[in-house]
Amino acid sequence: MSEQNTIFSRSLELLRTEYDALTDKRQILRSPTLTALYTELRTLPNEQKAAFGKGLNELKLEVVGWIDQQADVTEQLNPIDVTAPFDINAATPKLLPTENGSKHPLMVELECISDIAYRMGFNVEESRLIDDDYHMFESLNFPEGHPARDDYDTFTTTEGLIAPAHTSTMQNRVLRKYKANLDKAEPIAVLMPDRVFRNEDLDATHEHTFYQYEGVYVGKGITVGNLIATLKALLGEYFGEDLKAKIQPFYFPFTEPSFEFAIERPAALQKGDTEADQWLELLGCGMIHPNVLKGAGIDPTIYTGFAWGGGIERLVMIKYGIEDIRHFESGKLEFLRQFS
Ligand code: DAH
Repeated sequence: MSEQNTIFSRSLELLRTEYDALTDKRQILRSPTLTALYTELRTLPNEQKAAFGKGLNELKLEVVGWIDQQADVTEQLNPIDVTAPFDINAATPKLLPTENGSKHPLMVELECISDIAYRMGFNVEESRLIDDDYHMFESLNFPEGHPARDDYDTFTTTEGLIAPAHTSTMQNRVLRKYKANLDKAEPIAVLMPDRVFRNEDLDATHEHTFYQYEGVYVGKGITVGNLIATLKALLGEYFGEDLKAKIQPFYFPFTEPSFEFAIERPAALQKGDTEADQWLELLGCGMIHPNVLKGAGIDPTIYTGFAWGGGIERLVMIKYGIEDIRHFESGKLEFLRQFS
């Protein structure tokens, strides 16, 4: 009898382990452990069968009990409410573990640029993902009906709000926010990186959604020389070498004069291209237009400043030799894993 008890208690332990490992818990009733016990029952002399059979039955009932309990637990799980995916009353979901994840390469590079600018004395302020006509155009010296508005074709809501086509939307805000610096003889120096939107036909160099890094610097006696030196320092630090740079005239309503800023392809990234291909246009820039300063309550006869705005994807594509901008938002793991 006690030998039988030992057999059943060992079998019970064994069944428990097998049961825990099963996804379909009902499979436990077909377990080799139970089957072996039934086979053994058949081979026993008649006088032992009753006791063994009783023990075996109790064991089976115990196991069936586990299955029933599990079914109860499954039934108690809260049903998923597909009509309210953002139910604020729902329990906070657990965060997924991060061991296998990594930051998106664009975020890594955006942080890198922000960090360099911060070390150069710039505050860093995020831009906005929805804005209004005043910040997108008016405050930047594009009055109603100005033809240059057409260069910034983006998306609007039916209420007239705008998905910003550039981070310049932040200029008026930061100029106002940091205006008091000027009274203390300190400059306004702010970097504004964020996402922007354009109604673009997509190709290897154009996306409808991308990132820009905008900078403004205002103080007394600031000139184009300061603009060039600042951009050379910022981008030189980013590419890790002294860069050759050039500017060429351009037009933006919010700067006067306005330029395009180009660098010579960093030596580390030379690809044996022809000479004509060596200059890489990186961004738009210029001296902040007096109307933009006035609009923020800054006197342009006392203070001057420069601003720039460029695409982050372009920088990252040059740095890593990425041939198609669409990789960034593709979600393709083969692409993303190369950066982790
Ligand atoms: N906002 C411009 C664009 O996206 C780029 C730009 C040009 C920004 C000149 C500036 C600037 O701040 O001064 O095309």
